[in-house]
Amino acid sequence: MDQKQTPILEALATMERRPVRGFGAPGHNLGRGAARDVRKLLGSRVFEADVITPKGLDDRREGAHVVQRAHEIAAEAWNADFCRFVTGGSTLSLHMALAAVARAGDTILLAANVHKAERAHALAAGLDARIVPVIVDDGWDVEHGVDPAALAAALDANPGAKAFVLVSPTYYGVTSDVAALADLCHRRGVPLICDAAWGGAFAFCEALPDDALTKGADVAVYSMHKTMGALTQGSALLARGELVDRQRLWMAYELYETTSPSVPILASLDAARRDHAVDGEAIWRGTIARAADLRARLAGIAGIRVLDEPDLPPGSQLDPTKVLIDVSALGVSGYAIDDWLNEHHRLCVGLSDARHLLAVVSVGTTVGDVRALAKGLADCVARIGKGDLTPTSAAEAPRIATLTTEMAAAPADALFGPVEHVRLEEAAGRIAAEIVAPAPPGVPRLVPGQRIGAEHVAWLTANRDLGMFLLDPTDPSERTIRCVAASADAPS
Ligand SMILES: Cc1ncc(COP(=O)(O)O)c(C=O)c1O
Repeated sequence: MDQKQTPILEALATMERRPVRGFGAPGHNLGRGAARDVRKLLGSRVFEADVITPKGLDDRREGAHVVQRAHEIAAEAWNADFCRFVTGGSTLSLHMALAAVARAGDTILLAANVHKAERAHALAAGLDARIVPVIVDDGWDVEHGVDPAALAAALDANPGAKAFVLVSPTYYGVTSDVAALADLCHRRGVPLICDAAWGGAFAFCEALPDDALTKGADVAVYSMHKTMGALTQGSALLARGELVDRQRLWMAYELYETTSPSVPILASLDAARRDHAVDGEAIWRGTIARAADLRARLAGIAGIRVLDEPDLPPGSQLDPTKVLIDVSALGVSGYAIDDWLNEHHRLCVGLSDARHLLAVVSVGTTVGDVRALAKGLADCVARIGKGDLTPTSAAEAPRIATLTTEMAAAPADALFGPVEHVRLEEAAGRIAAEIVAPAPPGVPRLVPGQRIGAEHVAWLTANRDLGMFLLDPTDPSERTIRCVAASADAPS
């Protein structure tokens, strides 16, 4: 297939040349009914492109197969057997992937650092999620991937597992040994689903880590909006081989994908695939060069260090465009530095926490951006030296390695049974009845049914007081946590 083709983009351009008078959705009708100030702000082209797929991009029965052709070309670009563009982010793609392999009561294995998306699907679908521990670098206070020995033990302990879900690369750009993990899974007939939300571009540049599908993953999910230049929410769901039933995957996609996918998002996915298939090597060599420039500039700033190849566990690779900066020696938390950089230099990093900042160098990052970040950080460090930033106790914050994953109740019982809000400081020993996921990276530290340990309380209160942001807590003040009611929690 010709990877220069962009069926969605081309159909959109044709449509714009011969606009139709619509008497259906979307009701803004090429922008005419959109709020004036929004149209002024976003421009009228956005609304002209915001058509629906049948009787917009395609005919009434989608007989020109516009979106289908885009999917087929994308599948070939990744050397996959199946591809669907998904307009609800990788969150939705992961729901689809899991729905294709497991039903209520089935056991699935989840790496301990999976995103909220996988935990939410397991919860909603009634899956029996078993946690596979990940490698934790205590010195850096970060989680990496899964060691093959840990997966082998989990597979032995759960012989009926329907799938193993891995995050590779992690938010911090570190991959697992996908080939070794896939081999372990395949010897037992278990599919490996790789949440490669941050690794969609890997297949298109030799200097990036290996692509998950190429290394044996049966299903891979890529947030093309995160790394490949597509519009926000644009994701791709891909599969290779026979282990995951293609028809079920296709049906899961149909079950969950909106009936009104955003055509601007679809068009941006189509174009991002074309750019990568045709020009990925050059695009990413340039991006990697800018990341190397940032790394070189940061090396000149005293008091910080940057994660690099020698810091990785065996079998891992580093995506050099993810620049993880340890700021713990500065005596000020990463959250505070993030806020300071934003306020004083209008800089916005990809992640901050008690000890780190993560700069994501992307296809859109310019040399000027890199210089500005290095300058801003140097300025910040100088200001810290002068005492301009209030010192924080970030260095004493509990480390991620302390957190446990013991379950004490069935997740659905905890979610739907009697509950009460308990002060976080008093919650040790109780059973969680909500997902507690600091974001980014959006990895749940507590899920419904999980025993809240003293270590969770210590970690969460310390991070909360330092400035952590939680995804949708039921108590937005983060003072209390939704727990199984004491009456229901008591042993019978
Ligand atoms: C590892 C991982 N998986 C899944 C997701 C969800 O992706 P999306 O925001 O595209 O829904 C994220 C988002 O940050 C992520 O980091």
